[in-house]
Amino acid sequence: MAAYAIESEPIEPIPETSAAERVVADVQPIGALAAVAERVRDSVPLWFHTFALAPGVYTPGIARDHGYRLSVLGADRFAGRSVLDIGAFDGFYSFLAEARGARRVVAVDNEQYVDWVRARFGVTLTGGAGFRAITGLLASRVEYRRMDALDVRELGERFDVVLCFGILHRVTDPIALLQALADVLAPGGEVVLETYGSRLAADAPAIEVHEPGDVYARDDFVYWGFSPETLRRLGQIVGLDEFEVIEELEIDGHPRILALLRAAG
Ligand SMILES: C[S@@+](CC[C@H](N)C(=O)[O-])C[C@H]1O[C@@H](n2cnc3c(N)ncnc32)[C@H](O)[C@@H]1O
Repeated sequence: MAAYAIESEPIEPIPETSAAERVVADVQPIGALAAVAERVRDSVPLWFHTFALAPGVYTPGIARDHGYRLSVLGADRFAGRSVLDIGAFDGFYSFLAEARGARRVVAVDNEQYVDWVRARFGVTLTGGAGFRAITGLLASRVEYRRMDALDVRELGERFDVVLCFGILHRVTDPIALLQALADVLAPGGEVVLETYGSRLAADAPAIEVHEPGDVYARDDFVYWGFSPETLRRLGQIVGLDEFEVIEELEIDGHPRILALLRAAG
């Protein structure tokens, strides 16, 4: 039924990389040889993240204006810590954590994006292709696991920092996801949360429910929009009592929210 509702929407052209994304990419220049960089860029039919592969050679990432996330992603957040990046896609933030001194980084994705990338852009992606390409260029030690974020307890380890970017609004059960993350946090650990915001009042304890395809045409996986008060209460439900909103803003016409949730020490 959802697919029927959006069938009339045309497939989107892959957008050009924005200057703002290149600025974000430049915080971790990869420094490959130009010929290698071009080959890697062209080996993946669609990139989510923009990477600075070599001077002037960027992957054409479709994600927009991530610059606001960087304020909470300094070396002070990562140095010497273990990091779990859920819904990592091409892994920009996993590799950033590693570059900024994390002692261990695990990236998890269920590769749900393969479905919406095909539906939105008519492109067939091999799951994890971009992630593996960048791993090779960086000789990275980030561990990639194709798994559902709801199953992270199966990793059998605790993390100091969990990056939960762009995914809470894409799971049918946000409490179950936050509980799974809370259960793998080390004492005093924190979830850095970025998700789809809400146009409801900031203190409204209500979740916006989207119609299939009304946020991004042909993408049926954006279910929810969260107000700050909603996220505070969801955090409380799973035992993450310390909650701080870092920023609420509009990106490319979409409300977004960036927040921190902390476990007791
Ligand atoms: C919009 S992308 C965000 C990518 C990246 N975290 C960022 O914000 O830059 C959402 C990602 O979450 C993944 N995802 C969605 N639901 C998931 C789940 N239940 N378990 C693991 N990954 C999931 C998708 O496959 C996709 O890679």
